[in-house]
Amino acid sequence: MTALVRLSVFVAAVAAFAWGGLLPAAAEAAERVTYYEHVAPILQEHCVSCHQPAGQNIGSLVAPMSLQTYEEARPWARSIARKVKAKEMPPWFADAPKGVFTNERGLSNKEISAILTWVDSGAPAGDKAVAPPRPVVSANAESGGYSLGKPDLIVKMPRYFVNDDAQDVQGTFHVKLTDDLLPRDVTVRAWEFRAGTYLARQDTVHHMCGGVLDPGDVPSDELEGKGAGNLALGCIAGGAEPQQLPDGFGRDLKKGSTIIFNMHYYKQAGAGTGYWNEAEIGFYLVKEPVRYKVRTKAIGTFGFDIPPQKINHRVGAAETLEKDTYVLAYWPHAHLRATAARYVATYPDGRKEVLLNVPRYDQSWQVTYKLREPKLLPKGTRIDVDMMFDNSADRGAKRQFNPNLPIQFGARTQDEMMLGFLSYAEVEQKATTQQQ
Ligand code: HEC
Repeated sequence: MTALVRLSVFVAAVAAFAWGGLLPAAAEAAERVTYYEHVAPILQEHCVSCHQPAGQNIGSLVAPMSLQTYEEARPWARSIARKVKAKEMPPWFADAPKGVFTNERGLSNKEISAILTWVDSGAPAGDKAVAPPRPVVSANAESGGYSLGKPDLIVKMPRYFVNDDAQDVQGTFHVKLTDDLLPRDVTVRAWEFRAGTYLARQDTVHHMCGGVLDPGDVPSDELEGKGAGNLALGCIAGGAEPQQLPDGFGRDLKKGSTIIFNMHYYKQAGAGTGYWNEAEIGFYLVKEPVRYKVRTKAIGTFGFDIPPQKINHRVGAAETLEKDTYVLAYWPHAHLRATAARYVATYPDGRKEVLLNVPRYDQSWQVTYKLREPKLLPKGTRIDVDMMFDNSADRGAKRQFNPNLPIQFGARTQDEMMLGFLSYAEVEQKATTQQQ
């Protein structure tokens, strides 16, 4: 008995020695990486905005599982390690510029190695007393599930039943803003999508796009077609944040406009798998008049032809700004064959700057790259948008398309698009002279 006690005292003394700094390498190796102390803060900062329990997700589009607690994260440990090592999670597809987008995601090397060490050492829980507080979920019952709080105006699409045998369905719905919905012209500062409908363990709404047609514009089913910025409110897939404009910027919403819902449903077909969907968009009005009116346009082309089996097919388009212009966001939009997107500015003095480089385009994540600070581009700046397409058998096998067809512009997922959307506000002469 005494011998044992003495032995453990001896061991403790050696350990204390090591921790004292004499054996720093050993001390480091011995430091246990635990969920509560090291991993939970990383998951909370970078993962749980999407990986939430059903029903709470931003936009109500759901990641497959919640990662809010140890019990929830533990069974996914191997998979988490794989995804963060491959830099597939958190999802982010641009490599430049860095540090300028509000929604930029990514883990530092230190954070990745903490997660890998944790998983390799058996994903231990550690001491719950040091756990970070549970993140506050801003989308709650009181706000109707909206993370920005209760909207001033909610527009719902007509309820739609996604059939049992449906698997991959796209639907477009138009809702006119009649007087009872919107009695006067307004300016909005933010909007948020609620895709609606969650069924456990199923993809339901794959993605959702929204747009506005001004009164008098003709609704066209060729949504993103030649009528230009029809989808100007953007798209969400997998946990996108709401769109908020900076102070002083607002977007007009005229009474009598039509709101467009472009829904893409994706599920397993089978008896009993059908469900109702009723997506909605919440709008938040400006409180004070704004100086800059935000609009959306696409720099793109409809006249392209991607040959069968062609790899690295480039399609480009360009536009020169007629006024000094603040750019607020970029949203490259293409379909299954697109592999990369790039926006480059050429200033009037010939200098070039990469505005956005997406080396790994993935159409299932319709990311809008939102600038923290609106970027002022002087009149005469040319913006070039380039996208790369891969119509090879290899990619066709992965993305489920037929590589033996020539591909042109079209609205179906199997067709292609090449649209470099841009949210922007032109600087009107008056505003320039008012600037201090
Ligand atoms: C923008 C939302 C979003 C963020 C942020 C995010 N995820 Fe995901 N995650 C998803 C979606 C959606 C899927 C399912 C689609 C897919 O796998 O591409 C997914 C899939 C996964 C999977 C694979 C699940 C499976 O079925 O095999 C793992 C593991 C994962 N995420 C871990 C993480 C971790 C860890 C983080 C943070 C470091 C994170 N995710 C951040 C949305 C997100």
